Amino acid sequence: MTGLIKMIFGSRNDRELKKFWPLVKQINDAEAGLQKLSDDELRARTAAWKGELAKIEDKDELAQKLNEILPEAFAVVKNACRRLLGQEITVRALPQKWDMVPFDVQLLGGIAQHLGKITEMATGEGKTLVATLPVYLNALTGRGVHVVTVNDYLAARDSEWMGAIYKFLGLTVGVILHDQSPRVRREQYNCDITYGTNAEFGFDYLRDNGMATRKEEQVQRGHYFAIVDEVDSILIDEARTPLIISGPSVHTFDEQYAQWKPLVESLVRAQQQLCNRFLTDAEKLIKKLRPEDGSNVQDAAALEHEIGLLLFRVKTGQPKSEALMKILENPENAGLMNRAELDLHKDQKKVDLYREKEELLFAMDEKSQEADLTEKGRNFVSPKDPEAFVLPDLTTQLHDVDAGPETDARKRMEAKTKLQADFEAKAQKIHAISQLLKAYSLYQLDVEYVIQENKVIIVDQHTGRLMPGRRWSDGLHQAVEAKEGVAIERETQTLATITIQNYFRLYQKLAGMTGTAETEATEFLDIYKLGVLTIPTNKPNIRKDGHDSIYKTRREKFNAVVKEIKELHAKGRPILVGTVSVETSEMLSRMLKREGLIHSVLNAKYHQQEAEIVARAGQRGAVTIATNMAGRGTDIKLGPGVADVGGLHVLGTERHEARRIDRQLRGRCSRQGDPGSSHFFVSLEDDLMRLFGSDRIVKMMEKIGFEEGDELKHPWLNRSIQSAQKKVEQHNFQIRKRTLEYDDVMNKHRQVIYDFRNDIINGEDVRDRLMDIMEEVVVEKVLEFTTTDTEHSEWKLRQLADWVNLNFPLGIPEAEILKAAESGKDEPVAGSLFDGLSAAQFAVCNFISESVRKAYDIKISFENPDALREVERFTILSAIDRLWQEHLYEMDSLRYSIGLRGYGQRDPLVEYKAEAFQMFDELMVNVKTQICNNIFRSASSMAAFENFLRNVPQQTLHQSVSAFGGGTTTASSGGAQPKASDVVSEAAAAVAEKARPVRTGPKVGRNDPCPCGSGKKYKLCCGR
Ligand SMILES: Nc1ncnc2c1ncn2[C@@H]1O[C@H](COP(=O)(O)OP(=O)(O)OP(=O)(O)O)[C@@H](O)[C@H]1O
Ligand SMILES: [Mg+2]
Repeated sequence: MTGLIKMIFGSRNDRELKKFWPLVKQINDAEAGLQKLSDDELRARTAAWKGELAKIEDKDELAQKLNEILPEAFAVVKNACRRLLGQEITVRALPQKWDMVPFDVQLLGGIAQHLGKITEMATGEGKTLVATLPVYLNALTGRGVHVVTVNDYLAARDSEWMGAIYKFLGLTVGVILHDQSPRVRREQYNCDITYGTNAEFGFDYLRDNGMATRKEEQVQRGHYFAIVDEVDSILIDEARTPLIISGPSVHTFDEQYAQWKPLVESLVRAQQQLCNRFLTDAEKLIKKLRPEDGSNVQDAAALEHEIGLLLFRVKTGQPKSEALMKILENPENAGLMNRAELDLHKDQKKVDLYREKEELLFAMDEKSQEADLTEKGRNFVSPKDPEAFVLPDLTTQLHDVDAGPETDARKRMEAKTKLQADFEAKAQKIHAISQLLKAYSLYQLDVEYVIQENKVIIVDQHTGRLMPGRRWSDGLHQAVEAKEGVAIERETQTLATITIQNYFRLYQKLAGMTGTAETEATEFLDIYKLGVLTIPTNKPNIRKDGHDSIYKTRREKFNAVVKEIKELHAKGRPILVGTVSVETSEMLSRMLKREGLIHSVLNAKYHQQEAEIVARAGQRGAVTIATNMAGRGTDIKLGPGVADVGGLHVLGTERHEARRIDRQLRGRCSRQGDPGSSHFFVSLEDDLMRLFGSDRIVKMMEKIGFEEGDELKHPWLNRSIQSAQKKVEQHNFQIRKRTLEYDDVMNKHRQVIYDFRNDIINGEDVRDRLMDIMEEVVVEKVLEFTTTDTEHSEWKLRQLADWVNLNFPLGIPEAEILKAAESGKDEPVAGSLFDGLSAAQFAVCNFISESVRKAYDIKISFENPDALREVERFTILSAIDRLWQEHLYEMDSLRYSIGLRGYGQRDPLVEYKAEAFQMFDELMVNVKTQICNNIFRSASSMAAFENFLRNVPQQTLHQSVSAFGGGTTTASSGGAQPKASDVVSEAAAAVAEKARPVRTGPKVGRNDPCPCGSGKKYKLCCGR
């Protein structure tokens, strides 16, 4: 919308706000009326509402009722604030006087949040207080309201600070902190209101639904309403990395990284030499193009193209090359390179681009972060057999085997298995090398990661925060470890995972708040269905934003930064300096030290300490350097006299990839009508400018004859930088969206599995379920081996009997199955599990299921009923979990292999969905089959197990030996009867081998780790 139209009609934002103002008036009127009540009378409202709302089941009716009482309820909160004025409360062990009664704009924000919107309210507008309004209202439902903060410190602070209101009004408030036990967590979740970080909430969800084996271990009680503070940081920045609970992997190829390291190092070295040669050539040509004597140049265009290509090659081969950066400092050279690149991309088939890459040993794509060996590279690493690093076309190969002359099915199977194994091995090798190449060429020490205590620790590129414990996925972390020569940690396997997006989509109602949401409004709406509403400030904002200052090199830029800090510092103004990385923070800190300037550096490592430092950043003469996430949520109050000298000055040392983060930094000053100013410094060497800065900036600089040391300032330039930022924002949004599209597939699987699990955990009688599952599998198998025709000659009764006897201790001969079939008269009931079966098939199912049930009854008679119930639950859960984790792993591999296949015309996502669907189908069948297998293989104690086996009727036992122990003796053949005790030991061996974890008591000591893998002692876990 243009400015003029906006002026006449008002923006959509204004129109929406307009609707809320009458409500604000109602709240204020109601609040005036409440002032005459006694404290107890005010409190009584809470209980009355709670009682009323508890009776409402229907979602819509509940929402309706909440809307009705909103003005009154908000008035009650406002009135409680008034009553608290001057009271001392303790926040994070410090005494503090309550001094807040919500302003009208805060009421406005509260209304919007109740309606499930994101409220954009500037720093210092008091969002912490705003949230209490919708939190109180929605907590009255008794369904639990979650308030999500960015770190533990803020969760604790806000629950204590705002707790004053809730407690005054008779609600309970809790906080989830990292080191709490499940018992404590459950108590916190049972409060009306619970504060905590997104990670804690998300991990609790995963533990509850993906790992807990009994109801008592679950801590959450549903997902009704969440308000997310700093919502952009959590739903956008943090959303890049999913929450993962992992354990040591069973599939591990860690040795690969160390194994290929020397080879990759020599590759990288050879590539470096190659690139040096290209650079030398380029420099020569540059001299030719711009001769010092200023003489005329022939064929300038061809020269320019040649130079551009050479530079582009180096960029592709060695993207972080310092020599290249140096050459590109000259905007003309950068222009030549960009033009050459553009030309290469113009060709649809990319023939030239491909040829250029083939000049190198491997090619990197800095934007998409991929590394590939070229043909030259493959020859380099394996001159005798370059094909060793090319993935074969597996499908064709498999097909060829089937179409080939081999008639023996088993040999064909062997051949195919071998092909698959070869493929797998090659894929792993190629993958390891590609990750190592990335580690060497794109990941720099002290930029992307740091080494601490012999560990590779990731540095968050957006916040500068160290992320101990997090690991890059897909072996990249191992590759970097191999590169740095530190211990290569074992690859872990995902036990449970969810993206932040999908966690928050669980909530019936979601709302958020932040100082900066507007620029990402599309994403919030698209992905979370959250609208953004900008709330006006309480007092007008008088911050002065300077135009960006642009320099050619980083060096010049930082000299100018230091100069400005010195000048303003001399005037006594406090300065907050924002950086995009830890490295920059530290470099700048060294520069300031050299100048003798006292300052603090914040790297978002210790939240409490960080909050204290940031809180002091408004004091006279304070200089605070912070990565841009540091200190979010902490109030910067101006020290005495600071307002008179101009307030806090915010200095940005680089434009961030997203405009939002810059706005966040700017917003740190001029809170609540304070004076303040902001100023950003940019250089052409900054990543943003290098990767996404448009040619136009460079050209314009060429035109005005931009010289070393010059500073450039122009509103037009700000716009160009913004459009570069928009490009990156778009790019990142697409990546996040793509990730989500993939994750959606898994999310559906997760929902089904978690529902299944919860049914079992909450179910009273798991035994029925167990028998149902058995029956379902029996039906599947009967369908597999028989036909609906009454003619039984086609039936594979032998296989059916084998299957039955392999899984259950029955020993049913074929003949009996046939007899059952022939006696079948009743058709199955339509719509039942057996629908579609013939009378004969139906009879067979019944016969087998009945036999299983009978055998199971015998088992029951030797078990302690309570213990058996646990065993049954466990039998099901362990089958689900083991196969689900396997599934997670396979889905990961699928995604990776889809990536490899993604070159063709097909949309990888469509392929992924189709294959994932099939895999999930198989998973469900496998889970059920596995459960069936385990029904008789688990017992609450060895004694019960032995007793059971000893007492299975002889007739039932005789043929089953093969299934349980491998014996072949049968009663009918007249051979010796196996002694029951032999059977037991053989059976026990089979159990130990086939059905892990084993539940045969004596093997696991009470103090041993529980076989379910929970990490707890057996006696405290499944052995309870
Ligand atoms: N109604 C009020 N009356 C007086 N002071 C208030 C009021 N609301 C908030 N404040 C004060 O404003 C300051 C900032 O509050 P708060 O930290 O909640 O802001 P914020 O909007 O969350 O900012 P940030 O974006 O930094 O998180 C606090 O010192 C708080 O005490
Ligand atoms: Mg805040």
